[in-house]
Amino acid sequence: MKKLYVKTYGCQMNVYDSARMAELMAPEGYEETASPEGADLILLNTCHIREKAAEKLFSDLGRLSPAPARKAAAGERAIVAVTGCVAQAEGAEILRRSKSVDIVVGPQSYHRLPGLVEAALRGERNVETEFPAESKFDHLPRPRARSVSAFLSVQEGCDKFCSFCVVPYTRGAEFSRPAADVLDEAIRLVDQGARELTLLGQNVNAYHGAAPRGGEWRLGRLIRELAKIPGLLRLRYTTSHPTDMDEDLMAAHGEEEKLMPLLHLPVQSGSDRVLMEMNRRHTSSDYRRIVERLIRARADIAFSSDFIVGFPGESDADFACTLDLVRELGFAQAYSFKYSPRPGTPAALRQDQVPEKVEDERLARLQGLIAEQLRRFNQGFVGRTLPVLFEKPGRHQGQLAGRSPWLQPVHATAPSALLGRVAELEVAGLTSNSLAGILVRDFGGGPSL
Ligand code: SAH
Ligand code: SF4
Ligand code: F3S
Repeated sequence: MKKLYVKTYGCQMNVYDSARMAELMAPEGYEETASPEGADLILLNTCHIREKAAEKLFSDLGRLSPAPARKAAAGERAIVAVTGCVAQAEGAEILRRSKSVDIVVGPQSYHRLPGLVEAALRGERNVETEFPAESKFDHLPRPRARSVSAFLSVQEGCDKFCSFCVVPYTRGAEFSRPAADVLDEAIRLVDQGARELTLLGQNVNAYHGAAPRGGEWRLGRLIRELAKIPGLLRLRYTTSHPTDMDEDLMAAHGEEEKLMPLLHLPVQSGSDRVLMEMNRRHTSSDYRRIVERLIRARADIAFSSDFIVGFPGESDADFACTLDLVRELGFAQAYSFKYSPRPGTPAALRQDQVPEKVEDERLARLQGLIAEQLRRFNQGFVGRTLPVLFEKPGRHQGQLAGRSPWLQPVHATAPSALLGRVAELEVAGLTSNSLAGILVRDFGGGPSL
């Protein structure tokens, strides 16, 4: 067997793509390994969302290069491929900047990887960043479930063009997989032991896939159909855009028990002026209304979000609106980032960039508030019982680790027969980033893995 080393950066979509690329190379005789040393094929699946991601690629390439060089010295060949969003955005520039790279292939064309590797073995260096007419999904092998919780890509690309964001350029136009393909893949993943599925898309709630018997399904309908799969215990979806939260999807939160009560719904800013300049197409009150509507559908729903601080022209008053929104709504968790100018995006051309010192200060204040809310959210569970899906062995002997419905990591002393099952746990206390649970009752949930 030849050895394949994959390093993944960025979002869950990249995690999904990396797994699919490994599956694609398996029939070619490649087996995954945890180290680049001695690998015959090295895949760096990159992210372009913020500055440091691209820099990290080039420093990693520098650090990795001795491994292929040692192989070459032993008369063997190691192929290095850069895939993902930096590959799409930078293309041939990567071959120019790094002599050790043989292949550059974008996120919509990686199904061509086997042919590109063959060409590389003949000494060719290729760049494949056209958005192909065919769908890569029609050329990939059927996926394998690697864990209790599995990703399933249902939608890709983005047509929103938020003025700060590179994704529409790196992932291309919005595309939804046909519902029948999604259902097939879901059934297969559950057959192989997955108990939780997270539906993925850059704009997952813009999903509008061809329905099995004509017409189209939106995400709400897709979720309702997936929820019928026996053995599937939990469903989640990410990432959503506020303007695509339609009535049916919001209603599904109240009606589908398998749909988990934590929604990642990025808002980016609490200032309407900034939201408009970001081209987000929603106001802060639109966002508040969606949150209220979802709470009416399901009282225990909690929210997670993304924020950007220091978007060009963001004033102290704009930033105060963001803090107000966070204080008012309260988030179970949130990610916040300093604005990073991305090449080719409209906001990067603006003259009124916010000084780094101001950005740092705002980020620290926002992150402080978010951390406090996260702590309070978790604290609220101490002494309560929770259904926990056990996903893997815990760090200590005899322990299992799992997730609450709100994605909180939970660990407890429990028999390994409970892997892949939901059990009722009492939360005894908090550690820095997880809940400590005591097993109360096994709910069942199908055969253990
Ligand atoms: N599709 C999702 C998010 C995609 S990117 C959405 O519509 O919200 C994930 C997060 O990265 C974004 O929510 C945003 O908060 C952040 N992000 C994107 N571009 C950025 C940039 N140029 N600078 C800083 N953060 C950025
Ligand atoms: Fe980027 Fe906006 Fe599309 Fe999200 S909706 S991927 S932030 S352009
Ligand atoms: Fe990064 Fe591309 Fe995902 S830019 S966040 S890997 S869509």
